[in-house]
Formats: sequence, C-alpha cells, structure tokens
Amino acid sequence: TDTAMLDFTIVPSTTPMAESDRLRAFDNLGFGTLFTDHMAVVQWDADKGWHHAEIKARAPFQIDPAASVLHYAQEIFEGMKAYKAQDGRITLFRPEENARRFNKSAIRMAMPEVPEELFLKAVAELVKIDSKWVPEGEGSLYLRPFMFATEAFLGVRPSRQYIFCVIASPVGPYFKGGSKPVTLWVSEHYTRAAPGGTGAAKCGGNYAASLLAQSEATSRGCDQVVFLDAAEHKWVEELGGMNVFFVMDDGTVVTPPLSGTILPGITRGSIIQLATENGLKVIERPYSFEEWANDARSGKLREAFACGTAAVVAAIGTVRHSGGEFVIGNAGTGMETEKLRNQLTGIQRGTVADGHGWVKDV
Ligand code: PLP
Ligand code: COI
Repeated sequence: TDTAMLDFTIVPSTTPMAESDRLRAFDNLGFGTLFTDHMAVVQWDADKGWHHAEIKARAPFQIDPAASVLHYAQEIFEGMKAYKAQDGRITLFRPEENARRFNKSAIRMAMPEVPEELFLKAVAELVKIDSKWVPEGEGSLYLRPFMFATEAFLGVRPSRQYIFCVIASPVGPYFKGGSKPVTLWVSEHYTRAAPGGTGAAKCGGNYAASLLAQSEATSRGCDQVVFLDAAEHKWVEELGGMNVFFVMDDGTVVTPPLSGTILPGITRGSIIQLATENGLKVIERPYSFEEWANDARSGKLREAFACGTAAVVAAIGTVRHSGGEFVIGNAGTGMETEKLRNQLTGIQRGTVADGHGWVKDV
C-alpha cells in the first residue's frame, strides 16, 4: 500500500480535560503521569500493510489475551519532545532521527517498518490537536511513539498484526532533584545487553530487564543504575535510560562507542557534535569502571554527565558501587556540562541559533 498517502481521520475528543484542571496539573509537572486528550493510532496487518490512521480520544486498547506482545514482548518505542519556543512556535528536535531509530528497532524485533513520513505525520498531527498541552517555560511535551504485536497466536514467530500508536505527556524534570547532580549505582550482578542481543534497539524488553537493577539503585539512594558490559563486566556502557560522557582535565571527552549493546542516543550524537564544535576532542572508546574510579580519584576526570531526551543533560556527582563510592570533581555541575546543557536546551527552545537544522516546526 502507498502509505505515504495515508491520511489521518481526526475525531476530536468529546471529553477533553477542563482548562482549569490542565493548568492546575501544569503547576507541578513530574515525568510521565499526566497525559493529553488524544492519541494517534495506525494499524498494520500482513495483507493490508499500514491502514486506518486515526487521531482520536486517548482510550484503552482492547487486545486479545493471546496477543503476542503479552507473551513474547514484540514491542518497541521512541522518546522525543515537543517544545514551546519563546515566540510561541511549537518545535520538535531532530524528529527524523527518532523515526529512523524506530525503524532500526523494528527490524531488530522482526516488526514492520513505519514509513518515516507516516511516523512524523502521526507525531505532528497529535502535537497539533493537543498543542495547548505543550507547557511553556522549562517543561515540554514528551511524545511516546510505540508499536506492539496484536496477533492472537501462541506460536513463536513474528506477529502478522501490529498497532502503531503515539501518546503525549506534558513533563517537567525527569529527576526529582531537578537539575541537581545525580548519584549513580554501578550494577554488580546485572547486565543490560549482550553482544548480538537487543541493546541497540529501543524495545520494551530491555527496560523490563533493567528494572531490578534500577530498583537496587533506588534502594541504595541512587537516581540511576550504570550497566557494565556483559562479556567482561569491565566496561562502562550506559545508564538505565541515558548515555554517559566523561570530561577530562586535558579537554578530551570520552564516551562509550556504539558497539551494538548500547542505545545510539540522539542526545548523545548531538552532544558529540556540539562538544567538538566547542573545541573539545571527543573520543568514542571503551572506558572501564576501574579507569573511571581512578580518574575520579586522581582528578584527571573533571566532569561526567548523563544525557537523553527525558533527562536532558544531568551532571553525575557521586558514583556508588559494591566496594564504596567516589565523587566527580566537587560533586557539582561542571563547566563544560553546564555549557553543553545550555547550548542544547537553547537550541531546542529557540534561544540559541540552530546551526545544524535540528529544530523542526510542527
Ligand atoms: N540509553 C537508553 C537506554 C535510553 O533509554 C535513552 C533514552 O531514550 C538513551 C540512552 C538516550 O537516547 P536519546 O538521547 O535518543 O533520548
Ligand atoms: C527517553 O529519554 O526518552 C527515554 O526513553 C528514557 C526513559 C527512561 C524515560
């Protein structure tokens, strides 16, 4: 089917949230608990391909108890944000990168690809109908495109039916402490992804597998878990939901390479470009936990930060592990971290010139 021509049928909600309730909810935005009035839904089946594209009132799905997502976890998702610029425009940051990564995840999980223009249209149409839900100021509208397998069939093979959906959630800071430096827990027992596995895909299963390690981090008073590699349990890979960067005293910046076991973050890619343009030398290389601890203690490591769509750029203050803990710099937010965060958020919000064509109007 010629999905490029697929038009969304738009059925506005008859029960939108009252303006006063929405504005009250905006006063205290956390992450991912408040949702907009609508959702975008597109169906796929093996005979028709993508069809039946709708924007309609956000509502529960009815799926068969045998739907394969419930048994074999064929599910992928994306995370992106819409921003309200100071001049009132609503913008997206590098949305075509999310569309591309979504399709890489789809291929890895033996799911159909969503044509880029269909993905982008679903996102844009949802943001348009729910534009009053994009917070001003520091907040943003977090968008969650996802796809899951709905065929009722217990055999183990790719489903012949899927739903692609986009929901939206007005959000504030991901971490309770706002932009304060975060504390990390280095997982001793668990790894996130092995070579040949699904680490580079944004599939729900990766996150299910990370929850126990994340709970451990929480119970140790930490904000996020750090995963080391599965083969040697030696190399720093990424956090539960963010990539990681290290800023050295000689102006070099180290970040783990895209080895196939970590998520190729869009924030990560953007930071590499911005840091390079700032005159820093960015090196994508394996960095061991031992090096990290030693560099922090010797002062060679000046700053470290985590980055991702939800978390933006968060300085790493303290790192806890089974053998103790160490701090990075003075446990505050370093100069380069602050600069990169301001550049990135400035570009996203239209207060810093976008020299890369990263920002797209909705
Ligand atoms: N790594 C993981 C495991 C993530 O879940 C995310 C968040 O999406 C990232 C890294 C950062 O990716 P991005 O910058 O594209 O949001
Ligand atoms: C994102 O940053 O978009 C993510 O998916 C991370 C998740 C932990 C919220």
